[in-house]
Amino acid sequence: MNIIVVAASKHGSTLEIAQEIGTELRQAGHNVDVFEAKEAPDAANYEAAVIGSAVYAGSWLAEAHTFVANSQAALQTIPVWLFTSGPLGEEEPQPVGDPVQLPELLAQTNARGHQIFVGKLDRDKLNLGEKLIVKVVKAPYGDFRDWEAIRHWAAEIDESLRAGL
Ligand SMILES: Cc1cc2nc3c(=O)[nH]c(=O)nc-3n(C[C@H](O)[C@H](O)[C@H](O)COP(=O)(O)O)c2cc1C
Repeated sequence: MNIIVVAASKHGSTLEIAQEIGTELRQAGHNVDVFEAKEAPDAANYEAAVIGSAVYAGSWLAEAHTFVANSQAALQTIPVWLFTSGPLGEEEPQPVGDPVQLPELLAQTNARGHQIFVGKLDRDKLNLGEKLIVKVVKAPYGDFRDWEAIRHWAAEIDESLRAGL
């Protein structure tokens, strides 16, 4: 199956999650193209889509919304899965909760699911304003991404596609 995987990522870690999902789906036998949201083509030539974004101040990044809006007609006709990367920490990653636009995104895409993945915060990549916010909210620095969970989710997508669900 031809699958498009799209990610909006400010500092690169969500794009790496998308690449891992792409690798897993390729190993399962699919033809997969992975794009950053701002460079992604319309989803019209694909048979399934996986779309994700890092979340900042509770919201998906603007380029992810633009991709969804531009591809909405195509996305309504193929199976779609959404993912969000954001919460930080080992034990109980924070903050908890869906991106604020999730209801709208689900309506635009008819997505079969939405998965939240724990993210990464790299001090060296942040600008001054971001460092200030991180300090105020006491977010922890580190790479908390759970590659096992990411691969497992991609495998579930493959299973659904194989089952024709
Ligand atoms: C200024 C700032 C605001 C953030 N706001 C949120 C937020 O509201 N909710 C959340 O879950 N994560 C938030 N995060 C964490 C990022 O989503 C997380 O670091 C993510 O993995 C970054 O992905 P990227 O490397 O693809 O940009 C924030 C991070 C920064 C630096």
